[in-house]
Parts: sequence; structure tokens; C-alpha cells
Amino acid sequence: MSAPDELLEELIQQVTASSKYASISPDLIREIGAKELIKRRSLKEAVKETRNKLHQVGSAFQEKPIPYAAWLDELSTLSTDLQDETVVATLKRQMSMHASTAERLSILQHFFNEALASIAPVFSILDLACGLDPLCLPWMPAAPDLEYTACDIYGDMTSYLKAYFDHFKVNGRAFVCDLTQTVPDASAQVALLLKTIPCLDQVDKNAAKRLLKELNTKFILASFPAHSLGGKSKGMLQNYETRFNQLIEGESWKITRLEFTGELAFLIEK
Ligand SMILES: C[S@@+](CC[C@H](N)C(=O)[O-])C[C@H]1O[C@@H](n2cnc3c(N)ncnc32)[C@H](O)[C@@H]1O
Repeated sequence: MSAPDELLEELIQQVTASSKYASISPDLIREIGAKELIKRRSLKEAVKETRNKLHQVGSAFQEKPIPYAAWLDELSTLSTDLQDETVVATLKRQMSMHASTAERLSILQHFFNEALASIAPVFSILDLACGLDPLCLPWMPAAPDLEYTACDIYGDMTSYLKAYFDHFKVNGRAFVCDLTQTVPDASAQVALLLKTIPCLDQVDKNAAKRLLKELNTKFILASFPAHSLGGKSKGMLQNYETRFNQLIEGESWKITRLEFTGELAFLIEK
């Protein structure tokens, strides 16, 4: 049974009336909303549950609204050199506004260099559910003409990332994409799927496996957080490692396990 179209359109309108969800991919809202309309007793309940799920997979990582308009103004005053001291300090401050990059700041100096050492210098990246990851570029072992493709569910975020790439003359592009429904077909040396599998699992348990199998990249760096947003860590790493092992079951891929403070990563070579 599918939800009637008018009801789904009404749900999308009500969900996006809140500025917290207004920039999220309509495809993802539609996907979650349609399921909730079938499960719940009323439109009101379905709207509430859709918002809850969108919060869990997206807004929970942005405790305060990210001031992209102010960031754009700031960007125009910065040097175009990604290694410039003020640029580096600005990027770190910006990354602290998204919980996922914020918790990586303490390992930023070595995370990408160690995780990608065997394939450095990296010449092309497909960053899936990127969050503010592309701002980590100065800390990545990147070739000078690196090609960077990034996607996430937020339109305001991907617009800012486009401006960021333009300002620093990075050969990059950013677009909105719901990974539970689409496998981006861009080819690249390595795909980054950092701390995102648990978010995809909350919407569709088959999405991560589909991505790992169908991505058009030789390498995939996938990672999991070592603790929840609330700081709890009991049993989490073990559970995520079990989940990862399920995802690669039956595949003859080469796996390198890398444990960092706060993040467990796996470099997959297909
Ligand atoms: C834990 S954060 C990780 C962000 C980034 N990869 C990092 O490591 O800092 C999860 C990211 O997944 C994005 N996301 C959640 N569901 C998604 C989906 N269905 N498709 C694409 N991105 C999604 C969120 O907006 C958020 O930026």
C-alpha cells in the first residue's frame, strides 16, 4: 500500500515549514515521509516521526544553525592559499559547527594522512554524506590537481562547499543527494563514507551494502564513530565492527583496519 500523493505533499510541506528541515533533500523527506504515513495513525504523527528521523540522520549534527551567509562573507576576505594560517584557523572554527568534523579536530593532523597513506598522493575523492569534510582538505595527502566531488542531503551546505571550492580554486563540485536512493556514478580513486553507515541504516538497511558494491571507485574509506553524540561508547565499536563485517561478507575485497581516537576506519580495496 502506498501513501496518497496529496497526503505526502502535505507532509513534505509541513516538515519543510521548519527552517531546520527546509534545506534537506526533498527525495529523502519523501522517502521517509511515505513510510511514516503508512506506519502512523495520522498525518500529524507521520510529520512528527519524519522530523524525528531527519533530526537523527542530519540535524542532530548541527546543534546550532550553521551561518553560511556569514561564512560566505568571511570566505571572500580570505587568502586563496589553503595552507595560510588564517585560512587554517577559519576552517577549524567552521568545522567545529558540525559535530562530526568537530570530534575529528583532535586527530585531524594524522587521520587522513594515515588512513590514505597507501594511496597518497590522492588524485580524486568522492566524498559521500560529506558534512563539512571537504574543509579538511589542507590536512589530506592530496595531489596538487586533486578532483573533489562531494554530496550530502543539505542544499545550503553543498552551496557553501561549491563557493569554498571556487574560492580556493579546487577542481571540485558539490551536490545534494540522498544515498538511500542513489549511488553517485562519479568515478574516483577513493570514496569517503565517513561515519555515515549508521545514518543510512536508520532509513534503509540495504543502502550501505548497495553503495559499497556499486560505487565506481577502486578504494573506499569507510568509518564509524567510537561514541554516540551523547558521549556513550559502551559496546559501540564492537557493534559497528560486526555491522561492517556483515557488509563485506562474501566479497573478496582487501580490508585494512585503522583505529583512531574516536573513529574506527576501514580502507577497502576492490
Ligand atoms: C555523522 S555525519 C558524517 C559527516 C562527514 N562524513 C564526516 O565524517 O564528518 C553524517 C552525514 O550524513 C549526512 N546524511 C544523512 N543521511 C544521508 C543520506 N540519506 N544521504 C546522504 N547524506 C546523508 C548528514 O547530513 C551528515 O552530514
